[in-house]
Amino acid sequence: MFYKTAENRHGLPHDPFKAIVAPRPIGWISTRSRSGAVNLAPYSFFSAVSDDPKLVLFGSSGAKDSATFAVESGEFVANFASSHLANALVRSSAPAPRGVSEFAIAGVTERAASLVSAPLVAEAYAALECRVTQSFRPETLDGQPSETVIVMGQVVGIHIDERILRDGMIAVDLAEPLSRLGYLDYAVTREVFPMKRPRRPDASDLSAEPGLPVEVQR
Ligand SMILES: Cc1cc2nc3c(=O)[nH]c(=O)nc-3n(C[C@H](O)[C@H](O)[C@H](O)COP(=O)(O)O)c2cc1C
Repeated sequence: MFYKTAENRHGLPHDPFKAIVAPRPIGWISTRSRSGAVNLAPYSFFSAVSDDPKLVLFGSSGAKDSATFAVESGEFVANFASSHLANALVRSSAPAPRGVSEFAIAGVTERAASLVSAPLVAEAYAALECRVTQSFRPETLDGQPSETVIVMGQVVGIHIDERILRDGMIAVDLAEPLSRLGYLDYAVTREVFPMKRPRRPDASDLSAEPGLPVEVQR
């Protein structure tokens, strides 16, 4: 099937877009406003976009509290949730009035960050302390700014729960990262497989077979 998004006639019961761009990592964004209010909410329009410098961004559909607080304070923390925090993470997306901390609603613990004023989620398996580098409303094809607010930040400090390390590397089977699919669905990553990148220009040092490399097929 094919459909033009301008017409949006996909004929399906629900818009499939977010189910296609899936799984998406969830940035569990904690912020502190200039006046000291604490905020916590999940954002699946979230990703790392560069590792040198280390840049992450999240997209807010309208100027929600996380984006507003991050921009006014110039700081935010992206926390990462394991499967056992799924309920807490979803609870933190409650439309709480500004000034009410979703840490309490989610039942998670605030911990002071090292370099920024926003608190961390103590139970998260990792947290990235970020300083805002840019925020903007991306334009649509007609050149008009959209309602979306993109907040980009440079990672200035990284916390890792050492219980998710094995042989000095982050072990996905220990972290069990939660990600967002389409509709009401989420995924937990527990399984990984390694693949080398080609060194030769024609990739002839790697198998030409599509699918998993022979040595990792199950
Ligand atoms: C898993 C998950 C991912 C979400 N991702 C986004 C997102 O990327 N952008 C967005 O605007 N809202 C997203 N939401 C909804 C916000 O979390 C929700 O509107 C929340 O109340 C915003 O809180 P805030 O105003 O305190 O920032 C998501 C909700 C859930 C449960």
